[in-house]
Amino acid sequence: MKLFATRRTVAAAVISLAGLLATATPPASAAPAAPAAPSSPTAAGASALAAPDIPLANVKAHLTQFQSIATANGGNRAHGRPGYKASIDYVKAKLDAAGFTTTLQTFTSGGATGYNLIADWPGGDANQILMAGAHLDSVTSGAGINDNATGSAGVLETALAVSRAQLQPTKHLRFAWWGAEELGLVGSRHYVNNLPAAERAKLTGYLNFDMIGSPNPGYFVYDDNVAIETVFKNYFSGLGVATEIETEGDGRSDHAPFKNVGIAVGGLFTGASRAKTAAQVQKWGGTAGQAFDRCYHSSCDNTSNVNDTALDRNSDAIAHAIWTLGTGASNPPGDVYENLADVAIPDNGAAVTSTVTVSGRTGNAPAALAVGVDIKHTWRGDVVVDLVAPDGTAYRLKNSSSNDSADHVIETYTVNASSEPANGAWKLRVQDVAAQDTGTIDSWKLTF
Ligand code: TRP
Ligand code: ZN
Ligand code: CA
Repeated sequence: MKLFATRRTVAAAVISLAGLLATATPPASAAPAAPAAPSSPTAAGASALAAPDIPLANVKAHLTQFQSIATANGGNRAHGRPGYKASIDYVKAKLDAAGFTTTLQTFTSGGATGYNLIADWPGGDANQILMAGAHLDSVTSGAGINDNATGSAGVLETALAVSRAQLQPTKHLRFAWWGAEELGLVGSRHYVNNLPAAERAKLTGYLNFDMIGSPNPGYFVYDDNVAIETVFKNYFSGLGVATEIETEGDGRSDHAPFKNVGIAVGGLFTGASRAKTAAQVQKWGGTAGQAFDRCYHSSCDNTSNVNDTALDRNSDAIAHAIWTLGTGASNPPGDVYENLADVAIPDNGAAVTSTVTVSGRTGNAPAALAVGVDIKHTWRGDVVVDLVAPDGTAYRLKNSSSNDSADHVIETYTVNASSEPANGAWKLRVQDVAAQDTGTIDSWKLTF
């Protein structure tokens, strides 16, 4: 099946994912499920709440702890080494004390046990999950403070700010610290591969933070999903800080496994071994011709290898994104779900269908569901068209008519679909009921 689908929101790629997942193999083991909502949740209103300032001192205190952990464990926090598990224990204890539901997921890589830490904030819509994560492992050559204690600490302190605010977001919030990123995105890939299809479909976005305090920093925003990218760009433009699109290594961090299965992703990055240009120094200051991080993957990636201003801004930007995407309106109007694949309509034959899969929405379809139909046909009077809801209920859009000899059915119909749950496989069903003329479903779309 060739299904093209688009949606002009955060969850852009989720739609096409749902199509792919129809034939996906069930995963080997179940992933942690979202905890139940608290007994009397008060969802945030349609407009997002303002995020708190993330205290730089708190973020830096986590960096100091990660440095101490490395120093006490042979100088690193690498996969399979004791410094990694000690890092996991440190983050987990903070989250447990703050009221998160934490899950330790284990995997094996290179003969050693690896760990992902997943932390769910109780509440929010269990069918719309916003995720943010960072890799917690270092390379073996150093403590991995910019790469990636910075991202780990920024995500941790944002999670703790969620707890301090006792935030009651619209979406369910999930935070993750990945193992064995440095061995090839092993932990995040394991998580995604083991997430059941139904759980994957609930993810409205994954935000990744890998290296957010480079000592000669740039301000790079991932451009994978325009809605997420816009949230970050708006934050930095509010500070008067220019940003650029992240290009140093697309697919080189833990967002890649999510993106590869069609989940909307975004993130921030301050640069690794690439050199800062003179033009970038004009924007951001720093040293031209020098790497963003001269200590990338080296023994000097310690607590001196961090630019505080970059770490502060990026930590605040993480909180801004979680608050904006997590507490805003869950169903902005105007989302479009579309199938652009052609389907031939046999002459005077059986009905054919084209499917549009809707996921990640809350509640029922609207009372004025717009159904845009583009059917090419040489005698449209032959054609009967129905919209079929996921539960099988058919809504007649157009009857046949022996005297309508005009070409094509290019129309937008309005259907009262308010008794139908929004999520699921919607079908356009088309039948040609008279001989001679034939046609094709060119495309069709639902606007919620
Ligand atoms: N993920 C790489 C590491 O940890 C660093 C890196 C290179 C990176 N290119 C990137 C991180 C782009 C985020 C985005 O070693
Ligand atoms: Zn990294
Ligand atoms: Ca016909």
